[in-house]
Amino acid sequence: MKFPLPPHGGELIDRVLVGRERDEAVKRASSLARITLNDRELSDLDMIACGALSPLTGFMHLKDYKSVLDTMHLVSGPATGGLPWTIPITLAVKKENAGKYKEGEDVALYDPAGTPVAILHLKEKFTYNKEEEAAKVYKTTDKAHPGVAVVYDQGDVYLGGAVSVLNRVKYTDFVEYRKDPAELRKFFHDKGWKRVVGFQTRNPIHRAHEYLQKCALEMVDGLLIHPLVGATKADDVSAEVRMKCYEVLLKNYYPADRTCISVFPAAMRYAGPREAIFHAIVRKNYGCTHFIVGRDHAGVGNYYGTYDAQLIFDEFDPAELAIQPMFFEHTVFCKKCEGMASAKTCPHGKEEHVFLSGTKVRELLSQGIEPPHEFSRPEVARILIQAMKK
Ligand code: ADX
Repeated sequence: MKFPLPPHGGELIDRVLVGRERDEAVKRASSLARITLNDRELSDLDMIACGALSPLTGFMHLKDYKSVLDTMHLVSGPATGGLPWTIPITLAVKKENAGKYKEGEDVALYDPAGTPVAILHLKEKFTYNKEEEAAKVYKTTDKAHPGVAVVYDQGDVYLGGAVSVLNRVKYTDFVEYRKDPAELRKFFHDKGWKRVVGFQTRNPIHRAHEYLQKCALEMVDGLLIHPLVGATKADDVSAEVRMKCYEVLLKNYYPADRTCISVFPAAMRYAGPREAIFHAIVRKNYGCTHFIVGRDHAGVGNYYGTYDAQLIFDEFDPAELAIQPMFFEHTVFCKKCEGMASAKTCPHGKEEHVFLSGTKVRELLSQGIEPPHEFSRPEVARILIQAMKK
């Protein structure tokens, strides 16, 4: 293996205009048909801008969209070379507005505050089948699934084409933790970390998560904790509270010279297996060589089997993904083993295991009770209890 690993497709995409080209494009934007993006679309745009979604240079056109749905690969071609890709990155508009946008013309993309953020070079306008997308990407057409609900609620027409970015999204939260792929790649290089494991999370870090991270860290040079801070479903713990938990954990339990925390701007799709592949590929763009996939990664409810998000990796040639997944069984604290364990490493029965369901944890915290320390570090539990009081 040669380090650092190249980004997906070989080149880190940079769609941000600078200098005169940018100034002219900003002027032109005001005369173009416009679209105001929502948070989810803005975060996708910003990830396209900085190459987090390399090799994508914009929102998907029909061929890529179909190919992603049907084959989990982009279409073949010099630009994308039939690379693995599992989640559609699309821009939807309402049917009644679609007439305003003409194929072959530019469209200005705005943020909700009225700042022009990009120009979409509209290549293709197409309708799509929402049930088909839901069934293929989310493995269910149930609108109770939070990812499926987003697809059903959005417009019926997709606009595909490359983007030229005028202004990066002006995030006001977690500013010090927002690092582009190029910045993290440089950070890892400067640290001398060749092998870096990425950890995706949308939850507070409990003992099980910490265990996976530290097992992985035993085998690599550095750990990137990369919590997702884009749109999540309403009952997930807010990113603000989670960040407080991560900070206190890192301060007390993690080696500062081997651990790095940065935020992942993406929205959560809850697409389970397909999202695990997406998460891995994107973390490769951020400079990771390894990626943790535990139990029910990116899952929700009972839509996916516990290890489906691991099994899907078998459907790809490891060389085309070019990031090493690190799989973990469901881990719990075992009183007999006196440590974290899983069915792979522990011979004892359930009665020895400190297992709490998400519902049970929420119930304890809402009553101001700290879950057992074998489940959650006390510092984390205290932050969660405080947050629940508000
Ligand atoms: S996710 O939706 O972002 O994947 P979460 O933050 O809960 O959810 O999990 C982050 C990572 O830790 C995922 O790879 C998940 O599979 C893994 N994970 C969470 N809890 C456990 C556990 N008890 N045992 C093994 N893996 C786990």
